[in-house]
Amino acid sequence: MNTKRNFIKQFLKDKKMVGAVSPSTKFLGKKMLKNIDFSSSKIIVELGPGTGIFTDMIIQRMAPDAKLFLFELNDDFHNTLAARISDPRVKIFHESAESIQSKLDQGEQADVVISSLPLMVFPETLRKNVVSESYKSLKKDGIYIQFQYSLQSKKLLEATYKKVSLSFTIKNLPPAFVYTCYKT
Ligand SMILES: C[S@@+](CC[C@H](N)C(=O)[O-])C[C@H]1O[C@@H](n2cnc3c(N)ncnc32)[C@H](O)[C@@H]1O
Repeated sequence: MNTKRNFIKQFLKDKKMVGAVSPSTKFLGKKMLKNIDFSSSKIIVELGPGTGIFTDMIIQRMAPDAKLFLFELNDDFHNTLAARISDPRVKIFHESAESIQSKLDQGEQADVVISSLPLMVFPETLRKNVVSESYKSLKKDGIYIQFQYSLQSKKLLEATYKKVSLSFTIKNLPPAFVYTCYKT
C-alpha cells in the first residue's frame, strides 16, 4: 500500500493518535528544520515521525557522530520505519513521547526535540506530560520545534518556554504553524 493511503488508513483507525489525514510536506519539513544547527546538534529527538517525512530530512542533515531518537506509538508506522531505516545513528522506540528521558543515556540531554504530535487532540494530562517531558529532556539552550494546525498551543508553550517564535506555511495540507521554543 502506498504511503499516503496507509496514512489515511492509520488515521481512520485512530484519529486522535494520528491527528492528520496525510503526511506533512517537505515544505513544512524545511520550515521545521530551518533553525537547527546540525553541525552542533548531537542528540536529536523526533516525536511522532509517522511515515518519516521529517526523519529522512533529519538523517540527510545530521552530523556523522549525532544520534537520532524516534518515538512512534502507532504499530504500523513504527514497524515500517524500523524495517526501512538501518542507519546506526538512529534508535527507534515503539513508545510514547512521554518516555524520552528514560531512553537517553544517563546524563544525556537533547539539543533539539522535533514534534509532530497532535497536542490539541490529546487528553490534557498527556499533552502536559509531553510538553514537560520534552522540556526536561532538553539541555540548556536546547530547542523544541512543534507544528500544529492552529494557534491553540501557543499559551501552553509560552508558559513553558521563555522564548517562542512562530512561523506559518500554506504549503501543507492543512496549512501549518511552526512553533520554535527556546530553553534559555
Ligand atoms: C500528525 S502525525 C505526524 C506524522 C509525520 N511526522 C508527518 O508530519 O507527516 C502525528 C504522529 O504522532 C504519532 N503519535 C501520536 N501520539 C503519540 C505518542 N504519545 N507518542 C509517540 N507518537 C505518537 C502518531 O502515530 C503519528 O505518527
